[in-house]
Amino acid sequence: MAIWVPDLGDRRGPKYLQIVEAMVDDMASGRLTVGTKLPPHRELAHQLGLSANTTSRAYAEGVKRALLRGEVGRGTFVRATAPGLNEGTVGDLRRPSAGPIDLSRNLPPPGVAERHIRSVLEGISRGHEMPSLLDFQVEADISRHVGAALRWLGFCGVTAGPDEVLITNGAQHGLFCILTALFRQGDLLLMETLSYSPVRAMAERLGLRTAAITTDSEGLCPDDLARHCERAAPKALYLIPTLHVPTTNTLSADRRKALLEVVRRHNLLAIEDDVFGLLKPDRPSPLAALDPTRVIYVTSVSKCLAPGLRVGFLRAPAAMVPSLRQAVNLSAWMTPPITAEVASRLISEGTAEPIIRSHRAIAASRQRLARSALQAHRVVADPHGLHLWLPLPKGWTGENFRLAAEKNGVLLSEARAFAVDPALATVEAVRLCLSHEPDQGRVQRGLEVVRQLLDAPPMVMRLSV
Ligand SMILES: Cc1ncc(COP(=O)(O)O)c(C=O)c1O
Repeated sequence: MAIWVPDLGDRRGPKYLQIVEAMVDDMASGRLTVGTKLPPHRELAHQLGLSANTTSRAYAEGVKRALLRGEVGRGTFVRATAPGLNEGTVGDLRRPSAGPIDLSRNLPPPGVAERHIRSVLEGISRGHEMPSLLDFQVEADISRHVGAALRWLGFCGVTAGPDEVLITNGAQHGLFCILTALFRQGDLLLMETLSYSPVRAMAERLGLRTAAITTDSEGLCPDDLARHCERAAPKALYLIPTLHVPTTNTLSADRRKALLEVVRRHNLLAIEDDVFGLLKPDRPSPLAALDPTRVIYVTSVSKCLAPGLRVGFLRAPAAMVPSLRQAVNLSAWMTPPITAEVASRLISEGTAEPIIRSHRAIAASRQRLARSALQAHRVVADPHGLHLWLPLPKGWTGENFRLAAEKNGVLLSEARAFAVDPALATVEAVRLCLSHEPDQGRVQRGLEVVRQLLDAPPMVMRLSV
């Protein structure tokens, strides 16, 4: 087996601490798992071209922070649990390392951007921008933040001018602003049969009507969309064309074109939620790139940099921007300029791309883990996604499976939780999210529980339900 060699890349500070930082990153990403034996410190020193004194100091620091344990005569190992990851000493991730294994939350792996964000915050605290970052930015966002937003949209394949972009407190806030700014009570919002459930909840709260559009194995069906448009007069279609929640599907380029045809024919607005798009390098062009006049594009840095920054970007036709800006102001005044500044610096200084690549690599490795754990079963997944979709074998309903998993210490979501119209949600399936848990060992144990349940549907099940 290959020995562990940390990637010191462009890390700064004393070398021994760089090694410890790399260790923490690799533990968070799952590259270093519980019980892994580290190479002897002399061997590591040789690999890194450093002195043995430096690597031995790094290991001593790892032991001091309870990341590692040394065993006399056997070597140095990653600790059974990595308390440093959970106790606030290094990378306070606030994701429990004990208790139920949480495969229900669709968050990116923790801690990947942490050291970059620390360094950006240090730069901010030393710089001259602080007074303006502590002030209101209501009429317009700070121009360098807008510049970074345009660059991020460019990563996504969407071109925009400064008068077409808004900064929001994440994609969720962007969606909320769209619904409050552009809809009136009673307006009809079309959605995929299964979809990101907060949007349905928001629509309900705002007195909007929703209807579900049928999906097939390729995703949302243009014909059914056309039928709905002919029967009613919907205001807009909300959809997640890339790495769909919960089914992981990505609409093909042809399907996107066919959908836009219907959208144009029926004078519809499309709201494209692309929070996951950047994770998938081989994605087709966003709808907003194909028809910027008909599509509002919503994204954020949550899945690719850090969800706690609460920074999102919205691209809309310029004529809609004043109403959308008013909705941003009414709901939150503005995105906190300090977190917008952090995101902007990560984007503008070229740090965002390597962080995105790390997130992609972790997603891919968790997907491989799941494939191998569940190989005997039908799994619907994308190698770049943070989640997977598991149609259940006969004998299971989504609800029973969720309850059985819960009883065996694993949290996951059943199909019905995503249903726009529960009467139409007939599929028995569950969604598993693979990257919220920091410890790959816990994900593996969670997948093992899932596999056992799949192997033994209720009649013959060995685990207690
Ligand atoms: C499909 C989808 N859209 C939007 C969001 C909200 O993202 P943000 O954290 O940027 O508000 C999520 C979060 O899980 C999501 O899954």
